[in-house]
Amino acid sequence: MATPAGLRIEYGNVLTGAVGKTHGLTAAELKRGQAELKEHVRQVERERKQGQHRYRDLPDDKAMLRAVKAAIKRRQPGCENLVVLGIGGSALGNIALQTALNPPLYNLMSRRDRKGPRLFVMDNVDPVQFGNLLDVLGGELKKTVFNVISKSGETAETASEFLIVRDLLARKLGSKGLARQILVTTDPEAGTARSMVEAEGYESLPVPPGVGGRFSVLSAVGLFSAGMCGINISQLMAGAAEMSARCATSVVRRNPAAVLAQILYAYYVRGKRMHVMFPYSYQLKDLADWYRQLWAESLGKCLDRDGQPSVVGPTPINALGATDQHSQVQLYREGPRDKVFIFLQVDKFDRDVKIARRKGTPDTLRYLEGASLGKLLNAEKVATEYALTRSEAPCLTIRFPRINAHTVGQFIMLWEAATTLCGYLLNLNPYDQPAVQMGKDFTYGLMGKTGYEKQARQIARFASAAAGRYSV
Ligand code: PA5
Repeated sequence: MATPAGLRIEYGNVLTGAVGKTHGLTAAELKRGQAELKEHVRQVERERKQGQHRYRDLPDDKAMLRAVKAAIKRRQPGCENLVVLGIGGSALGNIALQTALNPPLYNLMSRRDRKGPRLFVMDNVDPVQFGNLLDVLGGELKKTVFNVISKSGETAETASEFLIVRDLLARKLGSKGLARQILVTTDPEAGTARSMVEAEGYESLPVPPGVGGRFSVLSAVGLFSAGMCGINISQLMAGAAEMSARCATSVVRRNPAAVLAQILYAYYVRGKRMHVMFPYSYQLKDLADWYRQLWAESLGKCLDRDGQPSVVGPTPINALGATDQHSQVQLYREGPRDKVFIFLQVDKFDRDVKIARRKGTPDTLRYLEGASLGKLLNAEKVATEYALTRSEAPCLTIRFPRINAHTVGQFIMLWEAATTLCGYLLNLNPYDQPAVQMGKDFTYGLMGKTGYEKQARQIARFASAAAGRYSV
């Protein structure tokens, strides 16, 4: 079978020829950077052999894929609604896969036209949002599967939603019904969610050890909901495997992750620390959201790999073309020169909509007649990129020949591998997130968790001071 066409990165518009000497990179500079990166690529490949960077091996984990497919086969019949309870790396990939690979109004389509259940990913504890979901699904609990996803099994947001659903199901369907409607995706051995699986008899899927939350979309975390909704998860993994192989070469100019990491790092060092991902496709909008977490949580650190103080971190921003041309491009062209733009462009959309010709169309709008929305969207992308380069803003484009499971799998692996390399260039550990913990600990204090009494006292003082004199 011929391999479907893959992603291509076009980076001519970061060079001095396109954006001038002050803001552009020279070909010689690119070449010099490649030598440093070559060593990092080799190091990563060596470390993979010792069991590190486990996310890179997920596409080869056939047993894991088989287990996910078996669970889908068991759960799909009679399932009208799939609710994912998770947050951060346990939700953003699920949302991104669904937006990219199913129709935008999938949940509103009739059951006949959908390839699976409706999907709701609840990645917040907003009471109005969650309460509304329960209202809508209240009468359909027997036809609803709740996939609780938490690697640690301790996350307060996911746990609280889980407890609400557990109580609801137990009251409405009894303990057997409760166990039937829940599937827990968590660490295979440790954590509270794992203990609940053992104690209460839920079906479960493992989050593979050594794979962190934001790198886990190509495990059971993202694959179960995608496969339930009819997405071709084998193709997704084949695309990821292909990209992983391309990202293993130490010939940096042929390694897409290394090229991305090199360019974005080079600009980071030169003070362009905002990395704007700008997809010109609604389908890709949530992949930009997923990228934002991956880049931010992995690369924003205050200690280097040796534990020495070193505050670094590019700021990822996501925008959507053409919508955000009418919201942010003014800033991007005339505001501070601290940004690099990463456009996502689609060569062939799955469908297109013609702009109709009709008598009476005003002369000023006739240029649109007979064209298509796809043509207009891509014209806007090229025009915006050109306008940005005229403001000497460096731009690169990741081109999707088409959006399908294969290219989306490639995209995911590309950014995960680029994140690792960028972390190495910045001399930090891309896999931890120690700064997230403090907010969690003080939330525990506020919510009265045993062992967090000191945090409770501290936060009470803070809250009363904040609500004090300096308010208006
Ligand atoms: O990338 C990460 O590690 C985080 O974003 C986690 O995914 C997030 O905090 C949720 O954690 P957990 O899956 O343990 O509930």
